[in-house]
Amino acid sequence: MKTAKSFGLPIVHSAINVASGREGRPSPGSRKGNLMDPADRNRVGIIGAGRLGQAMARTALRAGRSVVIANSRGPASLTAVVSALGAGASAGTVAQASAAGIVVIAVPWARVPEAVQGLEWNGQIVIDATNDFDPGDLDGRTSSERVAGLVGGARVVKAANTLGAAVLGADPHEGGGQRVIFVSGDDVDAKSAVIALFQDAGFFAIDLGDLIRGGGVQQVRGPLAGVNLIRLP
Ligand SMILES: NC(=O)c1ccc[n+]([C@@H]2O[C@H](COP(=O)([O-])OP(=O)(O)OC[C@H]3O[C@@H](n4cnc5c(N)ncnc54)[C@H](OP(=O)(O)O)[C@@H]3O)[C@@H](O)[C@H]2O)c1
Repeated sequence: MKTAKSFGLPIVHSAINVASGREGRPSPGSRKGNLMDPADRNRVGIIGAGRLGQAMARTALRAGRSVVIANSRGPASLTAVVSALGAGASAGTVAQASAAGIVVIAVPWARVPEAVQGLEWNGQIVIDATNDFDPGDLDGRTSSERVAGLVGGARVVKAANTLGAAVLGADPHEGGGQRVIFVSGDDVDAKSAVIALFQDAGFFAIDLGDLIRGGGVQQVRGPLAGVNLIRLP
């Protein structure tokens, strides 16, 4: 059985996200009406269809998951993207992407609030792949705490933000080893599902612990930001 490696940081076993609700649960809005079963972890929704979103789509497809990818302009604008991604990928609305069992947020930092505004979060696992390049606006918190506050009701795991999109989307088997990917989060079950996703794609996952401490190590200006490691057998 494959397991993630601990980075020596304490793991907080919490059923809910530590920062959930700090900024309030988004009020139900026009994007209610999820069409998919949030329990379906084999479906990965991706909000943001640019460089990082497409790299995460390739990763999820490599792991044998299906993908629904969304942007701000609607599914019709993603025909070429979905065609390039190939079998298992489809375009959807942001609400449809948010209804998958695992949802990746892959929009520019400044666009995160509007991208998740009005979405329903009912236990979905959210991978926060964003980077805040000007953390002066965080009041000493980690960027993932800020994201968690915007998606109250979801279970946030920080992952996929430390590698460039081209590296993330490539085959993680390199130089006879496996590319390392870092994950941080408070919900053990959610983190396990994210670790399984990356392991199934061929990565060697390292669990950095909870969202505050691990996320802080992963985020911009943290010691693991931009670090590309290969785990040799
Ligand atoms: N690029 C990398 O190498 C890399 C690596 C690690 C982490 N990241 C992080 O990943 C995030 C995305 O970066 P990127 O380089 O992929 O950006 P990008 O190439 O500019 O793509 C941004 C995507 O976000 C979508 N978007 C913007 N506002 C939206 C909204 N309100 N609702 C839905 N979709 C929206 C855009 O859709 P439209 O075109 O329709 O507006 C576009 O598909 C950033 O937080 C970045 O820091 C990037």
